[in-house]
Amino acid sequence: MAKQILVTGGTGYIGSHTVVELQERGFDVVIVDNLSNSQIEVLDNIEKITGIRPAFEQFDLSERDLTDAFFKKYSDIAAIIHFAAFKAVGESVQKPLEYYRNNMGSLMNLLECMNKYQVPHMVFSSSCTVYGQPDVLPVTEQTPRKEAESPYGNTKAICEDIMRDYCKANEAINCIALRYFNPIGAHPTALIGELPVGVPNNLVPFITQTAAGLRDELSIFGDDYDTEDGTAIRDYINVVDLAKAHVVAIDRMLNGKSKDNYEYFNVGTGSGYSVMQLVKAFIKVTGVNLNYKIVDRRAGDIEKIWADTTYGNNELGWKAEKTLEETLASAWAWEKNVRGLK
Ligand code: NAD
Ligand code: WQD
Repeated sequence: MAKQILVTGGTGYIGSHTVVELQERGFDVVIVDNLSNSQIEVLDNIEKITGIRPAFEQFDLSERDLTDAFFKKYSDIAAIIHFAAFKAVGESVQKPLEYYRNNMGSLMNLLECMNKYQVPHMVFSSSCTVYGQPDVLPVTEQTPRKEAESPYGNTKAICEDIMRDYCKANEAINCIALRYFNPIGAHPTALIGELPVGVPNNLVPFITQTAAGLRDELSIFGDDYDTEDGTAIRDYINVVDLAKAHVVAIDRMLNGKSKDNYEYFNVGTGSGYSVMQLVKAFIKVTGVNLNYKIVDRRAGDIEKIWADTTYGNNELGWKAEKTLEETLASAWAWEKNVRGLK
């Protein structure tokens, strides 16, 4: 019988792509999402891609009783992939308690149920934000974490610590934290992708919305960084590649390959691109003109970061495969589809 995987936040951006990869690998998926940052129609599009409609339960995972009742109802779950969280850095500065309650509360409720209902495995969405501005680049898993720049970033560091401590106290619990670098792009079918509410905070959705005519121009935040062209550098990882890393992490745990019952891995490409390089690549690959201007640096931004992926590549047997160009083309195809553009 197919193994059942609980995907929390499965109608969201990264979750929906991961549900597709899981289903294509033959896993049976149940999604829990409260739709606070995603739409129910995502289920239709997952079904269009895979031919299978995942089971879906709508509730808030920070509610302990509801989470417990869910595990009573679904008694065959083999593993959890926990995406559900609030993720807007700026909003977390305004509403820190909401972020701590939602992100840490949901994780703790799930961990508690893992023990109670004997669900041993969890993959957790962490972030390269835990490294802050590293002293040495690229960052390996041994690179020290730095104090978080925002309450959001802090929830990721604290959630990692909660899992580490819980795994230490409970040998039967097995967790893998994946530290994503900057996820971008969309599914090659253009049926699922990133759909930010309101004005996008992140670079690629801002670019595609500007190209689609929803925004007048892109503001590039700073050109006086210590980089070749003065704009900041990130490691942009294709969302489908990222989704596949989750399937590999699930396989690792289900097949008893983990070296420790708490592990963490960088998930990036190993290459850094500047904002300007990314903008130029977008213009080249899409042929669309993009208005942009240079403005001041954005508060809290780091100058440059990219991953050393050696450890993850070797241990997980996973590697990012897609090029920046095809990833940007996929983001544009998705934006055009959403806006009904040719
Ligand atoms: P997203 O907002 O698209 O997806 C998160 C989903 O979780 C949403 O569908 C939302 O409705 C749901 N959700 C939030 N709180 C919930 C709760 N209490 N109960 C039930 N559902 C809840 O975000 P995403 O970009 O897909 O990110 C997924 C995960 O990856 C998050 O944990 C995020 O912090 C982490 N992450 C994202 C990025 C990024 O740049 N997108 C980078 C690093 C880490
Ligand atoms: C990328 C680069 C901006 C928008 C954030 C979170 C991080 C992680 C991923 C979850 C930066 C520049 C952006 C714009 C710009 N999320 N930029 N104009 O800041 O690396 O990371 O998302 O864990 O925690 O902080 O991503 O896409 O916002 O920015 O010039 O309109 O693009 O300054 O250099 P970031 P981003």
